[in-house]
Amino acid sequence: MSIKVAVPKETAEGERRVAIESSVIAKLTKLGAEVLVEAGAGDAAHIPDTAFSGATIVSAAHDLYQQADIVLKVQPPSEAEIAQLREGSVLIGTLQPYKYPERIAALNAKNITSFAMELIPRISRAQAMDVLSSQAAVAGYKAAIMGADLAPRFFPMLTTAAGTIRPSKVIIIGVGVAGLQAIATARRLGAVVEAYDVRSATKEQVQSLGAKFIELGITAEGEGGYARELTAEEKQKQQEELAKHIATADVLITTAAVPGRPSPKIIPEATVEGMKSGAVIIDLAAEGGGNCTLTQPGKTIVHKGVTIHAPLNVPSQVPVHASEMYAKNLLNFLSPMLKDGAYAPDFNDEVIAGALLTHEGKIMNEAIRQLVEGA
Ligand code: NAI
Repeated sequence: MSIKVAVPKETAEGERRVAIESSVIAKLTKLGAEVLVEAGAGDAAHIPDTAFSGATIVSAAHDLYQQADIVLKVQPPSEAEIAQLREGSVLIGTLQPYKYPERIAALNAKNITSFAMELIPRISRAQAMDVLSSQAAVAGYKAAIMGADLAPRFFPMLTTAAGTIRPSKVIIIGVGVAGLQAIATARRLGAVVEAYDVRSATKEQVQSLGAKFIELGITAEGEGGYARELTAEEKQKQQEELAKHIATADVLITTAAVPGRPSPKIIPEATVEGMKSGAVIIDLAAEGGGNCTLTQPGKTIVHKGVTIHAPLNVPSQVPVHASEMYAKNLLNFLSPMLKDGAYAPDFNDEVIAGALLTHEGKIMNEAIRQLVEGA
């Protein structure tokens, strides 16, 4: 009997993505799996059931979960979804164990083998499985569009019969995957772009996209290609120097993050008050509390003429392509585990072991185990 890979409709509020896509169904089928999709799973992403050809459409979530050997999800399962998972089945998704340790405990109690896509080690071999990168690219693109939409000015220079319009200046803080895509998108829209990051490797990347790198003389390379947290003195210097640049921006897009820490506060109230009236801040770091001290995650506020927009779950706002990329990341992670139509993971593989959260009634990730069960 072939392995059944099931994709439920996402139930988390505001989530429009779906964890499957037609080319992925074809590839999984070729690997000997049978794909089941809950009716309407792609509705919010404008993907009708008819687009999931090759998959069996199952009308009730309960029936889907009852048949599933492997469940593919975007968001962590709710308590109600965990209750429907079959004992001993496999779950793959962005499970956010630090945010929902109690759900990890519940998965473990049901003997579920669970994999958190966001914990896959970011080594070259795993790039095609990297949901952090694929979804950050979506968010960075959308952030530039949001900035253009909320700004009271054009992005490009325009020469018209009514005179010449100067281009907008867009400043990007934090040049990881999202920041790079925001730079590229703002440039395509014709803005003049400047960018800043504490990792010195980003300077060349910024310049290669036709943007100017803001030099502050502070570098903070951390482990694994990430940034480290700045010292109090460095933070002070960074804020003061950046404020001068930010005062000239029409749109400021912030994406700075340090793994496992709340978003660094880079934009204090005084910096916002030094901005032009009508300027816009898109705080993409809102999920981790935001890079601006005035940010209210999930809200749009206006402070002394400056709009501070702090959207959550931005990839869900581009659900067609975000779903397509996410589903391909899942396929690239899952396919090495399917051999001759059977589920046969190599738990010694560092990519598989890195993503593994629970297996055979044990919490396999030590940091998460301590969080759930205590030291
Ligand atoms: P992220 O989302 O953790 O952080 C975004 C950016 O904020 C980073 O560039 C970081 O340096 C910057 N930042 C942190 N604190 C800051 C501060 N105080 N001021 C200004 N900027 C600050 O990063 P993301 O996008 O997840 O990736 C970061 C890097 O990880 C990549 O550029 C790359 O080097 C590496 N990476 C490796 C991959 C692989 O090999 N599979 C895949 C993706 C990323």
